[in-house]
Amino acid sequence: MTEHSHDVFHRSGAELYLESIPLSQVARDFGTPCYVYSRSAIEQAWRAYDEAFADRDHLICYAVKANGNLAVLNLLARLGSGFDIVSGGELERVLHAGGDPRRIVFSGVGKSAAEIHRALEVGILAFNVESVSELERISSIAAGLGRTARVSVRVNPDVDAETHPYISTGLRENKFGIDIAQAETVYHRAVELPNIAVTGVDCHIGSQLTRTGPLEDAVGRIAALVERLRRQGHAIEHVDIGGGLGIRYRDEAPPTPAALAEAVRDRLPADCRVLLEPGRSIVGNAGALLTRVEYVKHNDHRNFAVVDASMSELLRPALYEAWQAIEPVTVNADLVSAVYDVVGPVCETADFLGKARELAIDEGSLLAVLSAGAYGFVMSSNYNARVRPPEVLVDGDRAHLVREREPLEALWRGEHIPG
Ligand code: LLP
Repeated sequence: MTEHSHDVFHRSGAELYLESIPLSQVARDFGTPCYVYSRSAIEQAWRAYDEAFADRDHLICYAVKANGNLAVLNLLARLGSGFDIVSGGELERVLHAGGDPRRIVFSGVGKSAAEIHRALEVGILAFNVESVSELERISSIAAGLGRTARVSVRVNPDVDAETHPYISTGLRENKFGIDIAQAETVYHRAVELPNIAVTGVDCHIGSQLTRTGPLEDAVGRIAALVERLRRQGHAIEHVDIGGGLGIRYRDEAPPTPAALAEAVRDRLPADCRVLLEPGRSIVGNAGALLTRVEYVKHNDHRNFAVVDASMSELLRPALYEAWQAIEPVTVNADLVSAVYDVVGPVCETADFLGKARELAIDEGSLLAVLSAGAYGFVMSSNYNARVRPPEVLVDGDRAHLVREREPLEALWRGEHIPG
């Protein structure tokens, strides 16, 4: 077994297992393509955060966008997790899965009036506010409901997260947050508004971070801001330092939650509850996408393994040229290895899952695309009228179907042909 994957994925003889289940059995029982996740890997990853920050008042708010399956949310809710949401849909998912609304923070640049209304109604912990207009909208909706909205302003600390430009959010040129230089003005405006309680400061600088340096800088800047705000009389109770810790896809060595806690410990403001919003590092290496080789084809330059999964099921390689490990589920020593582009059936040149991979495979071989637990299923689409794949949660020697393969009729549900 390679070093890229979490140790819940392991090989015994020729077979790749997840916990105590051979992945070939999951493919046989549920078909391919199919997402599969490990309960124990998800729980271990969440607990690593909880333990890392145990010496302070803290709340780990799992970023639902990374993987919003109800079963995953339910596992985390049972551990006492909070949740970071970015839409009314994610809010309903969390509530449906048994999450505690008082442990929800609501992030995102474009919260609609209906979303704000519902979040106030259920009594979330805080809105991470991204603009003055949003603040005014929250205030007026809260006044209408006779509620007080707890808010933190998402500050843009202007640090370089040193990650892929599409997932870097902490620089001035990004649409996210309020420039740290303008933050105090926004807090002054906030306290003038009715039905608003300013309780925190929030930031999130980017995703798939592989060093603690940028987060240390951001936390330092946030702490200085908290100090200034407190001197000005604002009762800042929490700092939310966002998510962003990377995972190992290939050879990265991202910091652990413990290393993160160690790195920021002395910079965090005193007497402040610490919130974190990790997504990828909780679920990323807990999951894989199983896919079967439909055809092998060759031209003068390349070998192609055409598989039954595509950019519709796993978009990251096409969108970010992301590299994810691809391994045969069952090693067949009789096959000779060759270098393949692993591509899907979708009619797009960008439809690949991996390029130039050395694999000993044949038509019918089963492959596992690793590190697919985060931003996998959630970014899937029905492009080319492909149904969304099932999701399976492995718990020891049991495999639970936690989302059924979408039926064909779902592809046109809600559509109408004018008579
Ligand atoms: N909090 C906020 C406000 C965020 O925008 C994000 C991610 C997170 C927390 C969670 O970050 P994480 O711990 O997962 O890095 N689709 C991309 C990743 C987009 C991340 C967007 N924001 C990918 O597949 O790499």
